[in-house]
Amino acid sequence: MAQFDVVLEKVNKVFPGGTRAVIDFSVEIEHGELVAMLGPSGCGKTTTLRMIGGLEEVTSGKVYIAGEDVTEMPPAQRNSSMMFQSFALFPHRTVSQNVEFSLKMKGVPTAERARRVAEMIEKVDMTEYANRRPHELSGGQQQRVALARALISEPAVLLLDEPLGSLDYSLRQAMMVELKKIQRDLEMTFILVTHSQQEAMSLADKVIVMSDAVIQQIGTSREIYESPRTKFVAEFIGNNNLFPGVLKSRSGSMALVESNGSTIYVRISEGMKIPPIGREVTVSVRADLIHTGEHPNMGNTVRGTYVATQFLGSLETDVFEVAPGQLVHVEQHRSASERSYRPGQPEVLSWPADAGVIL
Ligand SMILES: Nc1ncnc2c1ncn2[C@@H]1O[C@H](COP(=O)(O)OP(=O)(O)O)[C@@H](O)[C@H]1O
Ligand SMILES: [Mg+2]
Repeated sequence: MAQFDVVLEKVNKVFPGGTRAVIDFSVEIEHGELVAMLGPSGCGKTTTLRMIGGLEEVTSGKVYIAGEDVTEMPPAQRNSSMMFQSFALFPHRTVSQNVEFSLKMKGVPTAERARRVAEMIEKVDMTEYANRRPHELSGGQQQRVALARALISEPAVLLLDEPLGSLDYSLRQAMMVELKKIQRDLEMTFILVTHSQQEAMSLADKVIVMSDAVIQQIGTSREIYESPRTKFVAEFIGNNNLFPGVLKSRSGSMALVESNGSTIYVRISEGMKIPPIGREVTVSVRADLIHTGEHPNMGNTVRGTYVATQFLGSLETDVFEVAPGQLVHVEQHRSASERSYRPGQPEVLSWPADAGVIL
């Protein structure tokens, strides 16, 4: 087990009163990985992180850090460190004194302390600010101090609970880049909790998507984005269109799904789990893989009427109704779309068979 920095084996948490906050959580995290736990509020992310750090007892299951079973150990004995929201720096202490804190608590001798603090501050590129206090630093610099303070005890894993949660959008973007860079430079293992899809997808080597106390999917950002395994993941991640239907037949690598009176063709890819014929299924198609207009080579066409357009940066999403109450999102770069639709205007939507995923 030595190759993994963190292993959870069937970890469960039931709070007094009966709330099952985490159910059968198992994962293996390699050294140097940045892992994001992603999911809506209340799905059990913080509880899982606290069980890794020892701030919360597990109800059942095992936690290993750096190959050692730490399930019964208090936080101070675990080879982990926690960084809290809004950094929680001591306002009246200097950068050096903030970073030094945990070494002082552990009784590390003065000379060694000074050496290690100077090294750590150097690593996060804050040497010239060593004697400043937090209010004399920018948000990005405060984050670096908070990281240095959490990393000074040389933990095998750093645990971060919504570290960027309280920041405004532009600062958040800058800090994400910074956080990733420091993690790379130091070759550290980070586990980060977030409810922000964008944060998880842009930062993490591995994303653990959770809902209702269970893991929905573990994978790289790309895997989760391109091949959602469950309806929850497809709905939660990105701009996916879900077509409810019934699996009608399968021939070779092609599956046919009957949805609202039309037939959807889905190319079966490796790893796609296909239920028996006749079963209710959902076909998920990413909004950026659907095209407007007839494209005879694409295999799938549905007819709809234009409803509205949503703008986000250089992207626009045109929304069409293809059956009563069923909306389809079509995402494209704004420069590529020259049309302007009237509400109710008919349009044909097309996508290739390999754009769909059966859930
Ligand atoms: N100390 C506690 N006592 C009882 N229930 C709790 C406690 N902490 C969290 N919970 C419950 O456990 C579930 C998961 O909470 P949490 O791990 O904080 O979710 P998240 O971090 O994903 O928002 C929620 O239903 C929450 O209300
Ligand atoms: Mg939380």
